[in-house]
Amino acid sequence: MAASAAQVCLELRQNKKFFGDRTILRGISFCLEVGEILGLIGPNGAGKTTLFNIISGWQKPAAGSVIFLGQETNTWPPERLSRAGLARTFQSPQIFPEMCALENVLMGAWLRQEHPPLPEAQEEAAYCLSLVGLMDKGQTPVRELPLPQQRLVELARALATRPRLLLLDEIAAGFSQAALNRLAAGLLKLRDQGLTLLLTDHLFTLLEAVTDRVLALDHGEIIAQGPPADLIRHPEVISAYLGTRYCSNANNGGA
Ligand SMILES: Nc1ncnc2c1ncn2[C@@H]1O[C@H](COP(=O)(O)OP(=O)(O)OP(=O)(O)O)[C@@H](O)[C@H]1O
Ligand SMILES: [Mg+2]
Repeated sequence: MAASAAQVCLELRQNKKFFGDRTILRGISFCLEVGEILGLIGPNGAGKTTLFNIISGWQKPAAGSVIFLGQETNTWPPERLSRAGLARTFQSPQIFPEMCALENVLMGAWLRQEHPPLPEAQEEAAYCLSLVGLMDKGQTPVRELPLPQQRLVELARALATRPRLLLLDEIAAGFSQAALNRLAAGLLKLRDQGLTLLLTDHLFTLLEAVTDRVLALDHGEIIAQGPPADLIRHPEVISAYLGTRYCSNANNGGA
């Protein structure tokens, strides 16, 4: 049964994207319900980041619609989407390297729609930094932090905007198993508080731990979708990642 309008957080209808004469997205459609955690997988170059860029307003689709919380947002710039409750992190963290971690997060808190008073924004920034376990790094210039911690600063900055929908583009790259476990537990807690999440990662352990459903993308097309445990065995997904030889092994029950 189709979800009612009130439950839909994000809907994509037939989104297409071209770079020059190359087709990058070939008509992507899907729905994301409020409170859902949706994963996106696909081999390098499948179009995952391009899709994130379109949803978050950093790039415009050549065709199709993006509907966020009931409003068509295709033409909205990123800052308008941010104020409407959409936050994201980037595959290569887009942080202010000379600023300390707390100042980076403060940007998110202060740029909220209502521009809270500075002390209030500072308090919120400190809280969001504590959520990602980096309270002791608040005064450290971000350029001095290792990449996984820079990713967490970016996550804290995104949370400080108080998003309704959060997009995470390979946030766990380079994480230790312990950091991954902490991240997974944190994301599930955020979902329990009402956040909707769309995340992409090559680390299937994270997706298996947190997602309700996963979409598999290849050459700009959704080739499969379902619960994470099913997708990892899906012949087309195996084929997209490893080639048809492994796919036929899987079909024959091979390991
Ligand atoms: N600005 C651009 N101009 C031209 N081609 C681009 C541009 N951005 C991305 N591409 C191409 O579009 C395709 C999809 O790229 P995209 O970054 O969305 O893939 P991805 O699934 O995120 O890959 P990865 O897993 O490596 O991050 C790639 O072939 C890439 O080279
Ligand atoms: Mg990418």
